[in-house]
Amino acid sequence: MSKTKEAVVSEGSAQERLDNYLRTVAHLGHVEISVNNFEKSLWFYTEVMGLVLTETDGDRAYLRAWQDFDHHTLVLKASDKSEVNRIGWRVSTKESLVLFEKQLKEMNIDFTWVEGGQKKALGDAIHFNSPSGLPIELYWEKELFVTNDPQLISKLPSHPSKFRSKGVSPRRFDHVNIMVNDVKKEQQWWTDLLGIHHRYYIQNEEDVRLGSWLSRTNIAHEVALMRNSNQNGAAFHHLAYYLDSPDELIRAANLMAENDIKIEWGPGKHGTSGAQFIYVIEPSGHRVEIWTGGFLIFSPDWEAIEWAPEIGQLGLEMWGSTPPESYFTYGVKIGE
Ligand SMILES: [Fe+2]
Repeated sequence: MSKTKEAVVSEGSAQERLDNYLRTVAHLGHVEISVNNFEKSLWFYTEVMGLVLTETDGDRAYLRAWQDFDHHTLVLKASDKSEVNRIGWRVSTKESLVLFEKQLKEMNIDFTWVEGGQKKALGDAIHFNSPSGLPIELYWEKELFVTNDPQLISKLPSHPSKFRSKGVSPRRFDHVNIMVNDVKKEQQWWTDLLGIHHRYYIQNEEDVRLGSWLSRTNIAHEVALMRNSNQNGAAFHHLAYYLDSPDELIRAANLMAENDIKIEWGPGKHGTSGAQFIYVIEPSGHRVEIWTGGFLIFSPDWEAIEWAPEIGQLGLEMWGSTPPESYFTYGVKIGE
């Protein structure tokens, strides 16, 4: 024990400590991407991935996995460019948005308050950029998924819609991965401002941070930051959906091959998270990870695990496969 009880309880005022506790995100909620081949991407996500199409509205499609409770976890926007447009995080309490607004003002970070109802299924939201220019959205209210479709209604109250053996049919949305020039700087900002815990990281021989993995919930990571080996700014590396078992992962790989979807890497297993994975490139050029396994974190005072250079290769892939060069260099641009 490093501190006395008296020392611990006297750190900051009660109000400051309460504000710090409330001014956090709760979990990753969704990602919005532009796709330059809307029809083909919508076919991929609904027919090959087997996501549920909640609705389309104008140039947008709103999708979710069968056990995602919210209205959507993925938004596709028809565009002439494939980009990432926004990464949405639910905040911890209804008071959190106002506390974040106050904090952003104090830090002189530009932000936009978006009134509830302006975006499909969302209440009030705050939009701002991370130091690398990643477009972040914080919100408290989001509609849940409800359906009258007899093909989707589950008898089980714990299932927002029933499991359909259509396409890959992942259980849930899991994480996003972003390439940035300076992983350490970006990670510290996400942890300090948003309260997203640093879980593990990889250093190279020159002691440069190659990757950091962060989460607010007990999954191993909700956002991963990877060093952009091009050093040309931020880029969106992939979005990921979670499967229950390795046999479903092999089935997913077969479905990709049968449907002419490029498997960029895998099946393989990351030593860091224990994730068994495949990475595919969907018709508009976004990289999608489908994965299973992994470990959970329950400790409230978790200290980030360092993967030193001599063990880094095992962290990247523990069965012996080597990622293609594109894995370290290719991502889509950050959009508006
Ligand atoms: Fe990933």
